Amino acid sequence: MSIAYLNGVWQPAEEARVSVLDRGFLFGDGVYEVIPVFNGRVFAEDRHLARMARSLGQTGIKPPMPNDCWKHLFAEGIRRVGEASAVLYVQITRGVSRVRSHNYQNEEPTVLVLASGWPEYEQRPHDVVTMEDFRWSRADIKATSLVASGMIRNGAIADGYDDAILIRDGKVTEASASNVFIALDGMIVTPPASRYLLHGITRAVVIELAAAHGLPLQEREITHAELMAANEVWLTSTTHEVWPVASIDRCKVGSGEPGPLTNQVNSLYQAYKRSQTASSVM
Ligand code: PDD
Repeated sequence: MSIAYLNGVWQPAEEARVSVLDRGFLFGDGVYEVIPVFNGRVFAEDRHLARMARSLGQTGIKPPMPNDCWKHLFAEGIRRVGEASAVLYVQITRGVSRVRSHNYQNEEPTVLVLASGWPEYEQRPHDVVTMEDFRWSRADIKATSLVASGMIRNGAIADGYDDAILIRDGKVTEASASNVFIALDGMIVTPPASRYLLHGITRAVVIELAAAHGLPLQEREITHAELMAANEVWLTSTTHEVWPVASIDRCKVGSGEPGPLTNQVNSLYQAYKRSQTASSVM
């Protein structure tokens, strides 16, 4: 079941409607967040709100409300969906224009919060293909214009893979909807936060957990050759968390099973998540 808050009104998601003149519809002109809820509590809420504020700032979309109001809305969404594990999809578009025009018309932003039960995500190690990163060079903005990501993900699936790891100028950026980590000779490496990749919340938590637990980690560029030589590779995202890669371009990563660092990082992440969402607000 999904419940939608659209511009001030809660309603069943399938009944919520936006205008065809919404710039989100016409231009993909909007930003979004996918925010997890465990044990009835929003995980990493301030981090998601900070990234959303940054996406709004970078695109010049008016911030619709202060953080306290967002938090209130999220709590209400959790209450209405009535499930301890849930996902909040938040989308803010620039709003409804008077006419279709590339020029902004001082629109009022359209605000959507979609609250749904946590879907059962498949957790088996994934087979990925490397692909040229042909997306725009502001992948740090969590924009709703995702035609390139859809082409990449579904192109990979059509060729018999689960996903794609993207390469720009010979260097790994990220996967279609997750960040990339490798373990190479005992060192964990992830590409530095730049305008070519999303600054993932899960990525940031993993980096902090590695530092706190003495795991060696570098944020530096990863070449295609290093990716192929890695002993372990995993992806991180809000929905899939720490997610092992079994093969790249049909070549096994290590044994093809999740490696020791993947498992250790996943255990640390799960423990941290439990500690942050320990008591229910429901
Ligand atoms: N995707 N990179 C891209 C391109 C992403 O779309 C995502 C998340 C990530 C991981 O970010 P985080 O750890 O903050 O979820 C990296 C979300 C889940 C989505 O689009 O559904």
